[in-house]
Amino acid sequence: MRYVVAITGCSGIRYGIRLLQELEGEKELIVSDMGRRVLEHETDISFKELCAMADDAYDDHDLFAPPASGTHVIDAMIVCPCSQSTIAKLASGVSDSLLTRAASVTLKERRRLILVPRETPLSTIMLENELRLARAGATILPASPAFYHEPRNVDMMIDFVVGKILDQLGQEHELFKRWDEECLLH
Ligand SMILES: Cc1cc2nc3c(=O)[nH]c(=O)nc-3n(C[C@H](O)[C@H](O)[C@H](O)COP(=O)(O)O)c2cc1C
Repeated sequence: MRYVVAITGCSGIRYGIRLLQELEGEKELIVSDMGRRVLEHETDISFKELCAMADDAYDDHDLFAPPASGTHVIDAMIVCPCSQSTIAKLASGVSDSLLTRAASVTLKERRRLILVPRETPLSTIMLENELRLARAGATILPASPAFYHEPRNVDMMIDFVVGKILDQLGQEHELFKRWDEECLLH
């Protein structure tokens, strides 16, 4: 399986890092300029270390890179976390960076596109943009951790969201306890 993992300048960069750690298969990474800045702000991980978690890392300004073309076949693209700015661009078909172009291509090729927004509250513009993208075939998977698995720390909350992404991709994992009989009896 080949995936494009993209990280934008959104709070919650740790979701993207954890996804890179857990996602199996070939991973191509694209990080927006603001993604690099928020990475610095929110984590102790350097951009170089982040890139080393992927098989290939492409410059977001390089629209000649493989993910810019529909002929470069991927199984899915995940934008995690996904800023509302990127959501707005995608909803209106703007593809002026490798990240937005690759996502736009993923949609037009009818391949799997998973967007993980983290914003609250949401304006009607943001809600409409997300609806538009969902109607165009994208999966909107908000970074919205649950509490029924009784998370004891932030890592467990991050793992819940990343586990939900892996569920969408059909990858088995043990990142959270499922709502099985054990939970019901609890
Ligand atoms: C520290 C920081 C945190 C941010 N968090 C969010 C966020 O959670 N959600 C969001 O939609 N935008 C957030 N933004 C704003 C985006 O970075 C901004 O809209 C930017 O243009 C996004 O560009 P990109 O999508 O190309 O990465 C944040 C900005 C900063 C500086």
